[in-house]
Amino acid sequence: MKYYKVVTYGCQMNEHESEKLCGILENLNLIKTDDDSLADVIVFNTCTIRENAERRAYGNIGALKKLKRDNKEKIIAVGGCLPQQSGKAEDLKEKFPFIDIIFGTHNLSEFESILKKRLDTGKKLIEISRDEYKMPCSVPVKRSTYPSAYVNVMYGCNNFCTYCIVPYVRGRERSRTPEEIVIEVENLIKNGYKEITLLGQNVDSYGKDLSPKVDFSDLLKMVARIEGKFRLRFMSNHPKDVNLKLAQTIRDNDKICNCIHFPVQSGSTEVLALMNRRYTRKEYLDKIKMLRRTVKDIAITTDIMVGFPRESEKNFKDSLTLLNKVKYDGAFTFVYSKRSGTKAYEMDGHIDEEVKKQRIVKLVALQNKINKKLAKKYVGKTVEVLVDEFNEDCGYYMGRDERGKAIHFSSKTDVVGQFLDVKITKADGISIYGEIV
Ligand code: 5AD
Ligand code: SF4
Repeated sequence: MKYYKVVTYGCQMNEHESEKLCGILENLNLIKTDDDSLADVIVFNTCTIRENAERRAYGNIGALKKLKRDNKEKIIAVGGCLPQQSGKAEDLKEKFPFIDIIFGTHNLSEFESILKKRLDTGKKLIEISRDEYKMPCSVPVKRSTYPSAYVNVMYGCNNFCTYCIVPYVRGRERSRTPEEIVIEVENLIKNGYKEITLLGQNVDSYGKDLSPKVDFSDLLKMVARIEGKFRLRFMSNHPKDVNLKLAQTIRDNDKICNCIHFPVQSGSTEVLALMNRRYTRKEYLDKIKMLRRTVKDIAITTDIMVGFPRESEKNFKDSLTLLNKVKYDGAFTFVYSKRSGTKAYEMDGHIDEEVKKQRIVKLVALQNKINKKLAKKYVGKTVEVLVDEFNEDCGYYMGRDERGKAIHFSSKTDVVGQFLDVKITKADGISIYGEIV
């Protein structure tokens, strides 16, 4: 075996877990490739949050049937949230009998031994732990996001929003100790990383399972005390749990970016109740006020979905008026997707696909209009960016300011990984351009 390929679907959590799978495979001296025919091991790290992510994975796996027929030695592994979901591992096995290994999110830390077992025995394997779960903390990581790095602070979710499959595939909340997290971040900074994103499904629950008790704001302060110039970000928060202490922690620590991802899901109190979000529209808006009052010029982004069961035209309009009122710095917009096993799946009043389509078009158009206006406001400002990458297609470098805005500019030398001051000269639609000063 010489080459491997890992295919990623889904969120930052999933992306970071792929970095761990790459770390495990490189530890076995395998080399990364994008070429399916060259790869001796192909791992699909799947996502099941919405039907289209699942459909994509099924399509990509199915497309390998011929390659596997021509080369029986090729190992095909399917892991992540999809097989972890009840009944899906069996479904995958039936649809794609050529898969060699099926493993769950709970089994990621054991991938090396699972792969070895497959090679030693020649037998197809399904490894899905339902209860036991080893946090994949001591797994080698092959990072692919320099100068930024993800660090898990906790796994799982206890919230049970009625649309969401995550609590069923990732289990209950478990926190890493602050000491372990601080050591990981210290090492990353020593190795030249300039931006750390702390990851958890609901970071506001951080530490509830630890003793002595420590909360997420305490953790942020500990990480922000680490020496060196770097930025600290985190995601995701739950609006019901965000409090003044967190806002003050963001305000009082220079390293913590003035920026928060604050997923609202719907602008309607009625729909929020059906979603089991445990806040009303008013309570949510009050927290926005608190954040903006406490942290000057804080950037606020959100997740919002249309077409949740029983969402009336009036409920949908509440989401539009909320976007108009808050003027988010960015919004991830979704169409509600039915997930079997969740409470919402069983509800009556599912919305017609055509209606969902009309609603998402309106929602996206409105947020686009807001994005364009906000981009224009940037013109004339000078901001410090951390340079992420050079984009070969457009010929510009791309960096982000502390508020998370992407800014494009030219440079004759390679500036990836540097902090630079950039003066914004132009906003073209939602894209922002500037010059190094
Ligand atoms: N359908 C559509 N969007 C969903 N999300 C989670 N579950 C679903 C679903 N069943 C969205 C939420 C969440 C984001 C990560 O994905 O907006 O915040
Ligand atoms: Fe991430 Fe959720 Fe997809 Fe799992 S199901 S990879 S947690 S987005």
